[in-house]
Amino acid sequence: MQRHAPEAGRFITFEGGEGSGKSTQAGILANRLARAGRNVLATREPGGSPASEEIREALLSGRVWQFGPFAEALMFAVARADHIEGQIGQALHEGKWVVCDRFLDSTRAYQGATAGVPRGLINALERLTVGGLLPDITFMLDIPAEEGLARAAERRSGNVPDRFENQELTLHERVRRAFLDIAEEEPDRCVVIDASQPEAMVAEDVWEVVLQRLSP
Ligand code: TYD
Repeated sequence: MQRHAPEAGRFITFEGGEGSGKSTQAGILANRLARAGRNVLATREPGGSPASEEIREALLSGRVWQFGPFAEALMFAVARADHIEGQIGQALHEGKWVVCDRFLDSTRAYQGATAGVPRGLINALERLTVGGLLPDITFMLDIPAEEGLARAAERRSGNVPDRFENQELTLHERVRRAFLDIAEEEPDRCVVIDASQPEAMVAEDVWEVVLQRLSP
């Protein structure tokens, strides 16, 4: 999918481990951009399009996991392709500001660095699904795994953890490390934010970066 300047929109993604507050921060930013007069598409992965929301259910329940990590990477890719084709690509073309809760870095961190799908395969899936459509900014909301898991458990209040929340602490720590490594590899795109701070301060840090880099 090609982006056409100058009327093309902007693409901002949020990444981070469980309980890092991504979804809340993505929502706050989307509202702020709308108040600044921007046309906004707030969306999420896995999901974001009707067909991909069905795949989301299969992924989070663990039904895909029985086929192993590569199958899971493939299903995330199928969901992502439909999301891009049906929603994100069109929105950017129309000049909207797309704010997405998780995107390709989650596949790199969870299926790649943590579940062991080789980097070459992850790269190939990215080429097939994302092509050149990289986010303008990716916020990595960073929080120690233990703290994030405690927050996620609180939020869940008695509901069963999904297939990903249920992983051991060491795996969550690996996910955190993977996001930090991506940020180090791609400093032009990625910004690490200290997500242990109070919500309002995290939101301020995010807004500062958006103002500086994209002048909404
Ligand atoms: P979600 O309910 O969105 O959790 P969170 O609030 O933590 O974002 O669940 C999405 C889960 O899917 C999350 O644990 C990470 C996982 N995931 C992957 O493993 N690979 C991916 O490519 C994506 C988009 C998500």
